[in-house]
Amino acid sequence: MTNTGGAVAHVVVLAAGKGTRMKSATPKVLHPIAGRPMLDHVLAAADALAPRSITVIVGHQGDRVRQAYAGREVQFVNQEPQLGTGHALLQAEPLLRDATGTVVLLSGDVPLLTASTLTRLVAQHLADEAAATVLTATVANPHGYGRIVREGGRISRIVEERDATSDERALTEINSGIYALDLGPLFEAMRAIASQNAQGEYYLPDLIAIYRQRGLRVSTVSIPNPDEIRGINSRRELAELGAIVRQTKNEDLMAAGVTLIDPSTTYVEPDVVVGADTVIHPNVYLEGRTTIGQGCEIHAGTRIVDSTIGDRVLVRNYCVITESSVAAGAMLGPFAHLRPASRVLDGAHIGNFVELKKTTLGRGSKASHLTYLGDATIGDDVNIGAGTITCNFDGKTKNPTVIEDGAFIGSDSALVAPVTIGKGAYVAAGSTITESVPAGALGIARGRQVNKEGWTKKKR
Ligand code: UD1
Ligand code: CA
Repeated sequence: MTNTGGAVAHVVVLAAGKGTRMKSATPKVLHPIAGRPMLDHVLAAADALAPRSITVIVGHQGDRVRQAYAGREVQFVNQEPQLGTGHALLQAEPLLRDATGTVVLLSGDVPLLTASTLTRLVAQHLADEAAATVLTATVANPHGYGRIVREGGRISRIVEERDATSDERALTEINSGIYALDLGPLFEAMRAIASQNAQGEYYLPDLIAIYRQRGLRVSTVSIPNPDEIRGINSRRELAELGAIVRQTKNEDLMAAGVTLIDPSTTYVEPDVVVGADTVIHPNVYLEGRTTIGQGCEIHAGTRIVDSTIGDRVLVRNYCVITESSVAAGAMLGPFAHLRPASRVLDGAHIGNFVELKKTTLGRGSKASHLTYLGDATIGDDVNIGAGTITCNFDGKTKNPTVIEDGAFIGSDSALVAPVTIGKGAYVAAGSTITESVPAGALGIARGRQVNKEGWTKKKR
């Protein structure tokens, strides 16, 4: 990591807590918000500061958190047992003992924090030459947060909800749990933190009162949009913050010319790109690295994950598209399923109950009804009849099917792979094709029909 100007030396992220209120087998910081674990969001904000190091304090199910970030440029420290946020930061001391400058302390459960707010926090901290700067906000409902207590306008201490008097609980300026701290006096003062409080924990916010008693300078930076520093302690808060992220994304999309019929039931993850004049109906999910072109219509109930959709594509109701691409002017669904590595080329049609896996459907080709196409390469202007099945799996390996340009596959055909249907060839309806059909030929592979005259009368 590079250090821009030496302003922010280090970042520490607290992520060791049990997350009791989540009532989950999964560590709290790995619960996803906007499609990514909440810790991802925090680390992205930290990266934006280009710090010299990022240290994540882990404890409860720490191995799972470490695994999730293996290969990333962060160092982990164990906190065992978890005796509170003050105790958590002390665990970073061995790694930061010789470091100087500023350490920015982040909370793994405060995921909406922006890089620009962090930059502002650090700039103010340096300008004030403070020993500690607390990021705060004034909120309508401060319940559950530590309150900022001021004397003569200056911050004097932070009191936790559970330890607050009713007067203190009425204070609406809250502690975000995010701080810029000068490493100089930090660890020595941290050791003065006691655990005489309602939870019997070492509270990091107690550092503020200690600094004030010692005559060290403490500053605050207050942010106008308190949503940014909301923490996640419960499933309810997880859902509430998820809704905030979604709403922001939906507003951006609409500002960029996308019609959302009902934004409250439109679920678009932050990295998704949608072109102008595309119309998105209710209950549509667009996830991961998905790109949608201009002038598309995506009907209700559709889910698109990590896929690319070209311009003017019509996706009818209830399609599922994963790791696939659909080119301009194509039509899909209703009830189409594109599994990974499928490509639908320009102007192709995929109808109801058609499943593609690792299959390319060429320009202007059609598979309109009740069909499975797996491991198939299908050329341009091919017609796939209703009920066509590529038998791609022989119990051991997946085998390819090739259908060349202009071929016509009659309804209810089984194509036993590996097999090739040549250019312009026909397959008769109801065939079980086990050998390739040459270009221009008719492949017919079914029992011959026999009509027994007068059979019904004789039978009676
Ligand atoms: C904390 C602050 C509170 C602030 C709020 C903002 C304390 C005592 N209180 O309360 O003033 O308003 O955040 O969201 O700091 N953690 C550890 N080890 C521990 C305990 C916690 O790493 O021993 C981690 C947690 O995983 C979490 C973070 O520290 O990421 C905050 O802990 P949490 O228990 O959620 O504190 P809050 O009650 O939210
Ligand atoms: Ca919290």
